[in-house]
Amino acid sequence: GQEESLRPRTLAEYIGQTELKEVLAIVIAAARSRQEPLDHLLFYGPPGLGKTTVAAALAAEMGSQFYMTTAPALESPRDIAGYLVRLKRGDVLFIDEIHRLPKVTEELLYPAMEDFRLDITIGKGRSARMTSLPLERFTLVGATTRVGALTSPLRDRFGQVQRLRFYEPDELVQIVMRTARLLNTSIDPEGAAEIAQRSRGTPRIANRLFKRVRDYAQVRGDGHISQAVAAAALELFHVDPMGLDWTDRKLLTMLVEQFGGGPVGLDTMAAVTGEDPQTIEEVYEPYLLQIGYLQRTARGRVITPAALRHLGYEAQSPLPLWS
Ligand code: ADE
Repeated sequence: GQEESLRPRTLAEYIGQTELKEVLAIVIAAARSRQEPLDHLLFYGPPGLGKTTVAAALAAEMGSQFYMTTAPALESPRDIAGYLVRLKRGDVLFIDEIHRLPKVTEELLYPAMEDFRLDITIGKGRSARMTSLPLERFTLVGATTRVGALTSPLRDRFGQVQRLRFYEPDELVQIVMRTARLLNTSIDPEGAAEIAQRSRGTPRIANRLFKRVRDYAQVRGDGHISQAVAAAALELFHVDPMGLDWTDRKLLTMLVEQFGGGPVGLDTMAAVTGEDPQTIEEVYEPYLLQIGYLQRTARGRVITPAALRHLGYEAQSPLPLWS
């Protein structure tokens, strides 16, 4: 689909994550010069930063096939075995949300990753016996939003663990300009900057907002995306100037209005907003922490003066913040 064609296919086309690209370029060059497959790799970080895209680009750089699945889909040993036996030397198997692997599947992966061996049971009951099938030397690429939720035997089997970071505003501008070019849309750098600023450091969000702004420009304007058009569109779609959505704002205002700015525990924040704690921790908090709107303390989450200013509380008398 269109989403697929927006993805950069090579690391050279990939904008941002400079440090990661540098590390990967070395790993790729070394493996290629030894004519060996890549070691298993684990990527972690908030959603939408390009973990899948980097994994697919790695396979392309190695001239290998790319197979993609997600841990919750690997319910039975049969599911993971189906992938493993298909893999040729150097192929990349990408498992998203790898912290959610069922135990039986995870245990099959240990010998597969370490010794390229698939342990299977043949027959049932008393006549059942174990046998091993040799596998080709493949590369497992895991992705997770929660590296801490991986068991240590699994984490230890990756040759490298790499974090993806939020993107800088100028990187997001380049991504939006690139997307506009691929989708034949007229945009100026100020229009792209307006979208970038509201994208929470996340390319997936930048591309999504871009499409909504493009709709607006087409219907209400002449199709061109200027700063004014982008700002008006995003205002209409309730994306605030920092990219905060309803839940972000609810989290922050709840901290102020009900808890005097904090500290408040994660479970309380979940109960008050109606989101589950994991979603708050993995999806909402990372960006609020990144932009300095929220702090984590031993006693819970605390709002910051920058967040108060953003929410328009500055005119009021000072709140008894973490005093
Ligand atoms: N589209 C989404 N993420 C991208 C990235 N990191 N570089 C280029 N285009 C992208």
